[in-house]
Parts: sequence; structure tokens; C-alpha cells
Amino acid sequence: MPVERTLSIIKPDITKKNQIGEIINILEKKGLRIVGMKMIRLTPQLAAAFYQEHNTKPFFKGMIEFMCSSPVVAICLEGENAIQFNRKIMGATNPHEAQDGTIRKIYGASIDANAIHGSDSPPAAAREINFFFKKEEIFS
Ligand code: PPS
Repeated sequence: MPVERTLSIIKPDITKKNQIGEIINILEKKGLRIVGMKMIRLTPQLAAAFYQEHNTKPFFKGMIEFMCSSPVVAICLEGENAIQFNRKIMGATNPHEAQDGTIRKIYGASIDANAIHGSDSPPAAAREINFFFKKEEIFS
């Protein structure tokens, strides 16, 4: 299995509920390594740029408002098959459809307040890691 990097965002619902550590604990316990991490309050401009692929979707405006409603924690994760593995740990986008034991099933409340984001492909991971981190902010 190739060693990959992926971008995770702990979303505002989790930072509001004081559960950042619980999510990080799960990611580390599953074997993913944190190689970069920062807390940031997204502006509407930053959030819109990050989620540009969704800018024609009906939920776009609400998603941007939600993502700016509290700070988020951006994390660069490294591990074997990290992109798909992280998606598996996260569970389905809609927490109500997520498998038992996944982060979104345990911590997510709705399809927007769904606890965590994870890159869905190698090109997305490269773009998203670059979005939040400079080269020298990644510690492999
Ligand atoms: S989709 O429908 O194929 O575009 O869904 P997906 O690629 O999984 O990601 C959609 C992201 O938008 C957030 N979001 C919503 N998705 C669908 N419906 C509604 N109403 C909605 N509201 C917000 C969803 O949480 C996904 O965010 P990320 O950060 O990518 O997980």
C-alpha cells in the first residue's frame, strides 16, 4: 500500500462541543499520523475557495456559513492508503447513513454538521493540503 497524505478538517460543530481531542484520538489510534495541524477561523472567502467545486449546489451558502461559524482544525494526515482509509474512518457524508463506529455516525448531527472533512482523491488531497499548509509546516 502506498504511503499517502490527506487533508482532514475538524468542523465547527466539533470545536464548539469541545471534542477536538476525541476526534484526534480516533485518527491516531487507527494508525494515521498527524504531520501538520493548525486551528483557523475560516473567512467566507477562504471557505468558498476551499469548497469551490460545490459553488453551484443549493447547500453552498449554508455550508459556507456553517464552516465559518467557529474555528476549525486543519490536519495533514499521513499513512498507508491514507486518503481512502481516512474516508472509511469518517463514514458517509450523511451521519444518518454512516456505518456504526465511524466518526460521523458517533459525532455528526446532520449532513452539514458532520464533524469532519476528508480529501476524496489524490488530486484533491494535494490541493487541499496546499491550501492550508506551507511545505515547511509539514513534519514527516
Ligand atoms: S456531494 O453531494 O456528492 O457533493 O457530496 P460530497 O462530495 O460528499 O460532499 C458534500 C460536502 O458538502 C457538505 N454539505 C452537504 N452535502 C450535501 N447536502 C447538503 N445539504 C450539504 N450541506 C453541506 C457535506 O458535509 C460535504 O462536506 P465535506 O467537508 O466535503 O465533507
